[in-house]
Amino acid sequence: MRTKLIKKKTLALDTLRFITCGSVDDGKSTLIGRMLYDNNSIFIDQINDLKNATLKYSKNKKTLDFSLLADGLSSEREQKITIDVAYRYFYTEKRRFIIADTPGHEQFTKNMVTGASTADLAIILVNAKKGILKQTMRHSFICNFLGIKNIILAVNKMDLVTYSKTKYEKIVNNYKKLINDFEFDNIKFVPISALYGENIVFHSKKMTWYKGLTILDTLNEVKLRNKNTSSNFIFPIQLVQTNSENKRYYLGVVRNGKIKKGDKITVLPSNEKNIIKRLFFYKNNLSVAHTGQNVSIELKNNLDISRGDIITKGKDQIIATDKFEANIIWTNKKEAFVGRSYYMKIGHILINIQISKIISKVNINNFKQEKAQSLIVNDIAIVEIYVEKKIPIMKYNECRNLGAFILIDRIDKDTLGVGMVKKITNQAKNLFYSESFITKKSRNILNGHKSKVLWLTGLSGAGKSTLAKQLEKKLFNEGIRTYILDGDNLRQGINKDLGFSESGRIENIRRVAEIAKLMVDSGTFVITALISPYENERNMAKALFAKNDFIEVFVNASIKTLEKRDVKGLYKKSREGKVKNFTGIDSRYEKPKTPDIIINTDKASIKNCTEALYHKVKKILD
Ligand code: ADX
Repeated sequence: MRTKLIKKKTLALDTLRFITCGSVDDGKSTLIGRMLYDNNSIFIDQINDLKNATLKYSKNKKTLDFSLLADGLSSEREQKITIDVAYRYFYTEKRRFIIADTPGHEQFTKNMVTGASTADLAIILVNAKKGILKQTMRHSFICNFLGIKNIILAVNKMDLVTYSKTKYEKIVNNYKKLINDFEFDNIKFVPISALYGENIVFHSKKMTWYKGLTILDTLNEVKLRNKNTSSNFIFPIQLVQTNSENKRYYLGVVRNGKIKKGDKITVLPSNEKNIIKRLFFYKNNLSVAHTGQNVSIELKNNLDISRGDIITKGKDQIIATDKFEANIIWTNKKEAFVGRSYYMKIGHILINIQISKIISKVNINNFKQEKAQSLIVNDIAIVEIYVEKKIPIMKYNECRNLGAFILIDRIDKDTLGVGMVKKITNQAKNLFYSESFITKKSRNILNGHKSKVLWLTGLSGAGKSTLAKQLEKKLFNEGIRTYILDGDNLRQGINKDLGFSESGRIENIRRVAEIAKLMVDSGTFVITALISPYENERNMAKALFAKNDFIEVFVNASIKTLEKRDVKGLYKKSREGKVKNFTGIDSRYEKPKTPDIIINTDKASIKNCTEALYHKVKKILD
C-alpha cells in the first residue's frame, strides 16, 4: 500500500516550499510526478488513474507518464500544458514539502510570481541537450529578484546526452559564470533523467561519476536560513473579538519571536504600550507563544486596535511608514502608471497606495536597468510607493509577512502585481502638520454658506466650462464665494508641463483635486471643469474630501452631437490624425457609474441645463 506516509505525524517537521521553473519541454511535471511516485507519496487509485491517463494521452504507452500525474487537471491534460499554479503537498521522514507547480509556457506569469514570492527554494530545469537558455536566465533572475536564496539547477534529460559527464559539467560551468551577479546563498547542481528516475529519489547507476545528492536528498538536506531575520516579536492582528463583558481578544499567528504572560508590548502604528495578561488557544491557556503559533491575546488594558495593527516586543522597533521602495513584478494586462491609486494588501492590511516613482525597470533580456513612466504585463521594476497613511511594515528580507504585498485594482479588484519591500523611507520626514486655528467650519459660518467641490466630468465640448461659468455667475450674485478650476486654463499655467497621455491626465487630475481640497478648506465653493476621464482618478479625488463635500456631476452628451458641434475644431483634427489621444476618439472615457447629478446637454438649452444644475446645487447648499 502506498498510504504509509499519509498516516504519519508530520507536525514536528519543518516545511520547505519550492517552485519548479522551466519550459513545457524541460520536464517539470515529469520531475514532480516521478518524485511523488518514487517517494511513495501517491495513492493506489492515483496510480490506476495514471495508467489510464498514460494509455489515453501519451505517445509511449509502456512507461508511466509522470507528467500527467503532476499536471493534475484533465483540462490541462487535454492541452498538454500546465496551466494554473497547483500546490502539491508531500513529505519525507525529514521534511514537509509544498510545491507550487508553475507554468512554463509563457515567459513567466502571475502564477510563477505568486508561487515564487513565498518559496524557499527553486528547482530550475535545464534540458541537457539544449543547455542554458535565455529562459533559464530569466527564471534565475526572477528567483533572485524575488529573494529566493536556494537554487537547484536540475540538468534534465541526461539520457538524451548519453549521461555524459562532460556535457553536464559544461552546463554547470556556464551557469556559474552567468549568475555571478546574483545573490543566491546556495546553488546545487544535479544531473537527472526525470523520465527514468535517475537521481530523483534514487541514485543513478548510469551516472556513477556523480557523487552528489539526489534531488529529493538535496531537498531534504538544504539548510534554510531563518525566513525572518528580525529578532522582534511580531504579531499582526487578524481579528479582534469582544466578549459580553467587553473584554477584547486579539487573534492571529505569531510571525516571529515568542511572547509570554507579563511581557511588555507595543502596538503599532499607535505606539501604545501594554502588558500581556493572557495567552490562549481555544480553551487552553498558554504560557508562551512561538513563531507560527495561532494564539489569542488578552492585554491588561483594552486598546482600540484593529485588524492589521501589530503587537510587537523588542528593541529594534518595526517602523510605521508611509513611503518605501519595493521590487515589483507587474502581472496584469492593464498598464501601471505613476500617480495612479491602487490597493495594496500587505499582511492583514488593505490600503490605498500610489506608485510615486518608477526608479528603474529591468530589461529582462540583458538585465540592465532602464527608465520608465509606466509598466506593462511581466515588467519587473524597482518603484517608490506612497502609502495613504503610516502602516507598520518591514523589509522583505527581515520579515516576509510584513514585507511582501500584492497590488489590486481599485475598481475591478483584479490582482495587478506582487512586490517586496526593499527599503523603508518616510514620506514626510521631519514634517509636521500644522493645524490652523481657523477651521473650515468657522470659515463657512463667516461666509454664510458651505464649501464643497462640484466635480464636472464629461467629454471635451460637452459643456462643462459653459455650465461652470453660468452657474458661477448665478451663485456669485447670491453672495456665494465660488471659483472655477478649468482644465484648459490650468493646463496653461500650473499644469503646463502635462500632456494628454494616461499618466499626464492622472497627474492633472491629482493636482486639481489637491488644489480643490485646499480651496474647499478655505471656504470656497469650487467648480472643476475637467474631462477627468478615468473612474479610478475621480474616486481618488473624491477620497480626498469629507463625506458629502465632493459632488460628481456627469455632463453628458453623445459623441455624435459633440462632433457636430465641434466648437474648438478638435474632433475634426482628431479624425484627421492631427490631434492624438483625443478623448472619445482614440483615448477612453469611463462614464461615471453613480454620479450625484447628471446633466444631459444633448437636447436641452444651456439655460435649462444651468437652471437644472443650479436647483440641485441650491438643495445641497441649503
Ligand atoms: S483631462 O483629461 O486631463 O481631464 P482636461 O480637462 O484637463 O483633460 O483638458 C481637456 C481640454 O484640453 C479639452 O477640452 C481640449 O480643449 C484640450 N485638449 C487638447 N488635446 C486634447 C486631447 N488629446 N484630448 C482631450 N482634450 C484635449
